Amino acid sequence: MPEIKHRKTNRQPIGLISFNQKINMANMQALVLVENEKIELQSVPVPEPKAGEALIKIKAAALNHRDQWSRIGMYPGLKYPSILGSDGCGVVEKVHDDADQTWVGKEVIMNPNVNWGDDPRFQSFNYSILGMPTDGTLAEYVVIPTHRLHKKPAHLSAAQAAALPLAALTAYRAVFTKGEAKPKHRVLVTGIGGGVSQFAFQFAKALGCKVFVTSGSDEKLEKMKATGADGTANYKEDKWEKSLVKQAGGNFDVIIDSGGGKGFEALAKSLNLAGTLVVYGGTAGTKVTLQLPRFWFAQANIKGSTMGNDQEFEAMVQFVSDHKIIPMISSTRPLNEVVSAFDEMHEGKQLGKLVIEV
Ligand SMILES: NC(=O)c1ccc[n+]([C@@H]2O[C@H](COP(=O)([O-])OP(=O)(O)OC[C@H]3O[C@@H](n4cnc5c(N)ncnc54)[C@H](OP(=O)(O)O)[C@@H]3O)[C@@H](O)[C@H]2O)c1
Repeated sequence: MPEIKHRKTNRQPIGLISFNQKINMANMQALVLVENEKIELQSVPVPEPKAGEALIKIKAAALNHRDQWSRIGMYPGLKYPSILGSDGCGVVEKVHDDADQTWVGKEVIMNPNVNWGDDPRFQSFNYSILGMPTDGTLAEYVVIPTHRLHKKPAHLSAAQAAALPLAALTAYRAVFTKGEAKPKHRVLVTGIGGGVSQFAFQFAKALGCKVFVTSGSDEKLEKMKATGADGTANYKEDKWEKSLVKQAGGNFDVIIDSGGGKGFEALAKSLNLAGTLVVYGGTAGTKVTLQLPRFWFAQANIKGSTMGNDQEFEAMVQFVSDHKIIPMISSTRPLNEVVSAFDEMHEGKQLGKLVIEV
């Protein structure tokens, strides 16, 4: 297990702050991806906002699987060194003279999309996500354009709000835009331990769907029964899909999956006529086997989904506020223990989001 190393560095500031700009000489702690497999807490200069930007003092941040993929070199466009982290909640400490001063002092969350572009259906070629290659939220401060800021939903604590942005946005697009889930639909969410999955579960429940979940952990499934899952199955067991379809009383109208891999064909078998299988990740493997007639005879769909556009981000925050949705937090720990959260994610122990209090 990697040890946390606290290290002062004299190197140039990184990422967003490595421009020709006035550097605030104060330092901050930040989780830096130094090179492949090497993350460590470093003391780096506090970034200074440029035109249109704000400096946020982070209160809480959260991990996503992309942070762990980045750590192990399995994310496209990696840049070393970089400060990781796409999710955060904090207070606007200052904004550049050219930006909207009314943000100062407000408690905010940040839309992690960078340059989605003009077409709501797909992201532009210039698209990226806060926290790679731009410096992210696993730090005491982050700089971000003010048009990425949203007021923190009033019913959430800073830790709960920090859990929201990336995972809830991904789940929102997958459930509503791509899955087109409707009240009373039978919805299956796989790998419920995951951060995105737990939001997909909560959104579909709030919509009035019957929601069924899988996990590789019986303990997580027991907890989900207590949380309102309408049926559960362990994907490590043989023919788990038959048991789940029986519990549901029929095949699923919508399936939300990020597992892929060998289990994917069982999902295709469990899809209802005209049903939709939405896939946004491949944690268990990106190569799958499919019997195509299942799709053409059943008039069924497979749809890929990635993150969500800025309108979906706003709609997601509104939905969370309207339905008083509270993110499921697996654990909370201080910034100086952040590496252990990566290890927990790598081992798949979590049920919900891994939050870092800063
Ligand atoms: N396309 C996008 O925009 C987008 C956005 C976010 C995430 N993702 C991807 O989606 C995946 C999940 O992300 P996350 O941040 O939610 O990760 P996470 O919190 O680390 O969750 C990963 C979960 O995957 C589940 N899993 C592992 N093996 C599985 C299998 N064989 N079948 C089904 N589920 C399995 C586990 O659930 P159990 O513990 O319950 O077994 C685990 O909790 C990652 O691959 C990530 O890169 C994509």
